Amino acid sequence: MTSNARQHEVRIPAEQVNYLIATAARAPSVHNTQPWRFRATDYAIDLYADPKRKLEMDRDGREMVVSCGAALFGLRLAIRSLGYMPIVESFPEPPRLRLLARVRLGAAVPMTPQEYLMLEALPLRHTHRGPFAGDALPAGLLSGLQHDALAEGATLALIDRALAYQRLADIASAADRQQHRDPAVREEIRRWSRDADDLARDGVPAVAFPAGTRRVPGRLPQRDFDLGRSLGLLPTEGPPAAATAVLLTTGDRRADWLRAGQALQRVLTHAATKWVFASLHTQPLENASIRALIRDRLSLPGAPQMVMQLGVSHTARSTARRGPDELIEPC
Ligand SMILES: Cc1cc2nc3c(=O)[nH]c(=O)nc-3n(C[C@H](O)[C@H](O)[C@H](O)COP(=O)(O)O)c2cc1C
Repeated sequence: MTSNARQHEVRIPAEQVNYLIATAARAPSVHNTQPWRFRATDYAIDLYADPKRKLEMDRDGREMVVSCGAALFGLRLAIRSLGYMPIVESFPEPPRLRLLARVRLGAAVPMTPQEYLMLEALPLRHTHRGPFAGDALPAGLLSGLQHDALAEGATLALIDRALAYQRLADIASAADRQQHRDPAVREEIRRWSRDADDLARDGVPAVAFPAGTRRVPGRLPQRDFDLGRSLGLLPTEGPPAAATAVLLTTGDRRADWLRAGQALQRVLTHAATKWVFASLHTQPLENASIRALIRDRLSLPGAPQMVMQLGVSHTARSTARRGPDELIEPC
């Protein structure tokens, strides 16, 4: 790019780089692997996948890219809070597979009130594996979340018929049992789950999962992070979830996964503005044939990227993240 063209570009304020990266890194990621890296230049922040943090069971890297997509949405929101529109170029240099997006500062436009609420709710958002409060969801929230997904190029399909829910629950239970028998899956969970004294800033901490795998009516099976070790500190009993949904994309390639991640974080952050949180369930999506079965049996109009259950909680507890200095992609 010529220096003349550069005159119209907005510099990334150097003193905001850590804030931008830390806000992006609040995103959910499978097993809290945080499989992302960032490189800030004068005019852009590049988002890279970090395949060293890809799970073995995530064979094609779908969950890694969805996680990075969620971080990309956080980066966009953080740029909005600086008063600029983000300009996102996905896969800007296709031969560089790990480079997922380049984000620049565009036109100066003040944050909307909704964006402000979402920025405030971002630290509250968490994956909710404990009991929900049992309150009804705020009126209009679900259609608002569906609008968010559409705005990001995805679809949030509500599983609101009893038959469809039962089918999903049956498939999810079978997938859960299958994974439980797989020593490699168990070993990977062991590696990424933390007991209460562990100070690691990645992985799933004991305060965020229950001990045991007791099934709760109206809740899909949770991934078993405890593995019989009695580490988990969350209670299990409680009212059913208020809603169940599947996030879909029309295609099923890396660009769709990146889109799904952005939609996911937008949906979850919007929900958090109303103290509504989600449990996430991807065990049934980690096996290609079970994933296809979900699509068929529920007649879903797209590729399932995330299964979630939503409910109100009056408390929120966030899990740790690595700091921006640990997330820099070396030159
Ligand atoms: C692609 C993806 C898949 C996930 N799958 C599951 C899952 O199957 N079960 C679960 O309990 N949490 C799942 N999570 C949630 C992560 O474990 C969670 O985001 C991470 O531990 C960080 O915690 P937080 O979301 O509370 O910040 C998933 C998240 C992502 C982005």
